[in-house]
Amino acid sequence: MGSLVLVLFWLFGELGFVETFVAITTFAGLSTFYYLTVSTTLNASSMPSAVRVAHPTDAVAASADVMLQHLPIPVMLIGPGGRIEMANPAAREFLGLGALEGHLSSVLRQPRVIEAVGAALQGEKVQPVEYATLAPVESHVRAIIAPIQPTGDSVPHWRAMLVLADETSIKRADRMRADFLANASHELRTPLTSLAGFIETLRGHAKDDPEARERFLAIMFDQTERMSRLINDLLSLSRIEMDEHVPPIGDVDLTVLAGEVIALLGPQTADKKIVLSLEAPEPARVVGDRDQLMEVLQNLIENAIKYAPVDSGVLVRIEPAQSRDQVERPAPILGDDAGRLTLAAPKSGPGERYIAVRVRDSGPGIKRRDLLRLSERFYRVSGQKSGASEGTGLGLAIVKHIVNRHRGGLTVESVPGGGSVFSVFFPTVTKAGVEADRP
Ligand SMILES: Nc1ncnc2c1ncn2[C@@H]1O[C@H](COP(=O)(O)OP(=O)(O)OP(=O)(O)O)[C@@H](O)[C@H]1O
Ligand SMILES: [Mg+2]
Repeated sequence: MGSLVLVLFWLFGELGFVETFVAITTFAGLSTFYYLTVSTTLNASSMPSAVRVAHPTDAVAASADVMLQHLPIPVMLIGPGGRIEMANPAAREFLGLGALEGHLSSVLRQPRVIEAVGAALQGEKVQPVEYATLAPVESHVRAIIAPIQPTGDSVPHWRAMLVLADETSIKRADRMRADFLANASHELRTPLTSLAGFIETLRGHAKDDPEARERFLAIMFDQTERMSRLINDLLSLSRIEMDEHVPPIGDVDLTVLAGEVIALLGPQTADKKIVLSLEAPEPARVVGDRDQLMEVLQNLIENAIKYAPVDSGVLVRIEPAQSRDQVERPAPILGDDAGRLTLAAPKSGPGERYIAVRVRDSGPGIKRRDLLRLSERFYRVSGQKSGASEGTGLGLAIVKHIVNRHRGGLTVESVPGGGSVFSVFFPTVTKAGVEADRP
């Protein structure tokens, strides 16, 4: 009967296939569990269909119990008056339940869920109830409730199954996708609007003014460059995200790579009279994808050049292999007042060694409260000057994804007015040619 209700929910689109499957399995388990442990006398004709199909034996009942105990989804059986008769460990953890005793309304302060459970206890079919909580952290839950027919109790009572499906990560992913689309289209619309404005002017009063035309064309060129940079960054981000779960297999010498990136950025350093120096041991081999590591170094060094004042120095330092703690928390480089934050970190075991690349500039620095948002897509610290062409705010988001794929880390140390040090670290190539951090 309960399974039928769930199948109907699924057919009418109220529940997803996985939810339905989990709920039916749970329901079958619960019914069996209930049949063998709670009910005293049994009347075959009033048994729930799931129990009849299962022909429970002691072994089946034991399996159903194990299933419930290990199911990572909170499941409860609510008895007459809203009393919690059974709660699996996931439910107890979710609701912070100690002993089994207690009433649902005292542990779950969600009037709509309590009301729906009340209706199910009268034998009514009820729709799933969604609710959100904001404290201690924002979470979204879908409560699936099904009435369970009275069985052989001396005084028959309906019971209710309550499943609490945590949908927080689904909701968060949905919102991130929506924000991302809104941001991306906003970022593209700004240069497009400005292009349309200039074209209009060129067709109108600037038509016969060669000087104005040259000036406007130069701005239009900058705007189209910005759009193509943005599109390239977006494509790069989606490519990296797509294979983030596939660990890289190459063997890359970061010293050689940093030298190549520095040569590539020659024109930008010359424009700002920046002295870019490299301090590096030889060799500094890490496991990685050469092109992606190049993108990481290029982004960090380009940022240092972009935000550093004219006529200053940028230092790229590559440190010999060290432990995770040493690369993530070195002695402060910019002094004790500097804000420090880890933006990405690997899950690493003991004995793993990493090579760090630190890029230090004497730019404006970043306030502590802005550090946390640095690797967010499209985030730019407000009021910061980065030269003629403004960045897209995607560079560090790309760096973070590449670093995650490489099982590496990304940290920042910064003092407002005193410069910044952005560091990345990657697992070294071991003697056997296998990286330290591969599963
Ligand atoms: N070295 C730095 N010094 C000061 N602020 C920095 C530095 N690096 C990054 N930032 C701040 O962090 C923000 C995000 O950096 P990110 O590299 O993601 O974007 P961007 O440089 O603005 O654009 P893009 O790299 O996509 O061209 C920057 O807009 C800037 O405000
Ligand atoms: Mg950048």
